[in-house]
Amino acid sequence: MTLAGYVLTEDCQPVSKALIELWHANESGNYDNSGYKLRGHQFTDDEGKWWFETIVPGLYPGRTRHYHLKVQRPGGSVLTTQLYFPGEPLNERDRIFNASLLLDVSPTDDGKFGRYDFIVA
Ligand SMILES: [Fe+2]
Repeated sequence: MTLAGYVLTEDCQPVSKALIELWHANESGNYDNSGYKLRGHQFTDDEGKWWFETIVPGLYPGRTRHYHLKVQRPGGSVLTTQLYFPGEPLNERDRIFNASLLLDVSPTDDGKFGRYDFIVA
């Protein structure tokens, strides 16, 4: 799965060098709590763009499918959030699910492409 998007200001200007940190469960729904598998970070490019090549996270009890992210523009405060998949059966039963955090997912020849744009104040 490719995960990508932009970091933009409230008036839609690209934010370069914003930190995007990603971590998520493996296909079995487990986190690597002793190492750094399926954890990483990037900085947005000059167009405010970020992207990761990763996998679709597995499910674990009590939660719908999700990625964890932190987003921080240079000198800004840290946004800690999650992104979700459309059409997941458990979305409606997950108490912290938020429909405004749904990825825009489309199929590609090489897996799925999920997009989300962050607006940072
Ligand atoms: Fe989680």
